[in-house]
Amino acid sequence: MSYRISIVGLGYVGLIHAVGFASLGYRVLGYDVDRVKVEKLRGGSPIIYEPGLEEHLGRALASGTLEFTDTIEDAVLGSDVTFITVGTPSLPDGSVDLSQVTSAARSVGRALRLKRGWHLVAVKSTVPPGTTEGLVAGILEEESGMKAFRDFGVASNPEFLREGSALRDFFKPDRVVLGVRDERSRDTLLKLYEPIDAPKIVTTPKVAELAKYASNLFLAVRVSLANEVGNLCKALGVDCYEVLGIVGLDHRIGKYYLRAGLGFGGSCLPKDVRAFIKVAESLGVQARIARAALEVNEEQPKRAVELLEKHMGSLKGRRIGVLGLAFKPGTDDVRESRALDVIRLLLEKEAEVYANDPKALDNARRLLGDKVKLVENPQELIDTVEAVVIATEWSEYENLSYKDKIVVDGRRVEGARRTAKVYEGLCW
Ligand code: UGA
Repeated sequence: MSYRISIVGLGYVGLIHAVGFASLGYRVLGYDVDRVKVEKLRGGSPIIYEPGLEEHLGRALASGTLEFTDTIEDAVLGSDVTFITVGTPSLPDGSVDLSQVTSAARSVGRALRLKRGWHLVAVKSTVPPGTTEGLVAGILEEESGMKAFRDFGVASNPEFLREGSALRDFFKPDRVVLGVRDERSRDTLLKLYEPIDAPKIVTTPKVAELAKYASNLFLAVRVSLANEVGNLCKALGVDCYEVLGIVGLDHRIGKYYLRAGLGFGGSCLPKDVRAFIKVAESLGVQARIARAALEVNEEQPKRAVELLEKHMGSLKGRRIGVLGLAFKPGTDDVRESRALDVIRLLLEKEAEVYANDPKALDNARRLLGDKVKLVENPQELIDTVEAVVIATEWSEYENLSYKDKIVVDGRRVEGARRTAKVYEGLCW
């Protein structure tokens, strides 16, 4: 049997999965509460920038394997498996805001009441351990009037996609994690993921949920550790890329997530580390290393501004350019971007701030309003300002002319290192 899939929540994760599963040949119904988004997607506009997304979306729409709807009943009744892919942002205290998961489960549960036959609901959103079997299964039972793990399946199926290479990660993941309690859910997910060539790990929902948090915590800790080593390298006058390059050659360590600089941003690593801490502490478990990872991460943008002050003195009224607003190259996402921290600090010092990004200017404009002058051409930005902070390592920044300028590089852009008048690497 070829399963039909519905995806509830068309943000980064939901949209990539909708397009990904449709490209594998499944019939996919993408649902979102936001009607404008649904309309745009129907018209083939991908709403976000992600390499390859527009092409895959166009092909899936044209072949008829992918459709979008703003009616939850259509999505659930027209499918056999529903993935919940809504956002789980941080609350002000760092714990997870599960309101979108709750309302998605409610509407899926209500639609399930009308469903004939078995259905599987799989949670892809990153949620605290216990949420799938507790909160989600509970709401689905309440709303559908049926028994979870018997009348319908509930599973945890975390994703490990990186923005900027999300489609590649969808088609070629390191592992597929299936957190299940009943056989039918397990068999359904195994069949569904059959076209994906990767180890399939079958476990419990709680293990699957925690594995997702632990993975992001590990990555965040590696980056902060690299930054701590990098900060010492800078004080010693040695190149941390050389040092960490040697460290990464040890196969037990590996070379990834050792790039020192401005630290980790985005919609996942910072929020998932905060959530990990909250979950641990709610159970009386200390999360010292997780806390330290956040602390180191908060310091890096401050160090960038201090390096500027070292060369310029007071920044009041000075023209400073920020190259890069996306939290990393390959995306238009500015959520928790370190560039925004640098900009906030510069504005606190009353500098005149100019900024550029190849993809994220529109998203940045919505957040920054007219506090920052957004410049479309990076060379024009460099020519306008006295000093530049490089906050995202876009390849576009490699071949610019930085001569006569002070450059504080938070991301190791070789072109700037070669050509700037004064060059300060953040950790090198
Ligand atoms: C992260 C994880 O890598 C994915 O596996 C996970 O699925 C995703 O979160 C999620 O939870 O949905 P993502 O947020 O797209 O993916 O970004 P990463 O590529 O992990 O980068 C995060 C931040 O760390 C970026 O700001 C990047 O510049 C920074 N970073 C990364 C470094 O500063 N140094 C490094 O060596 C690596």
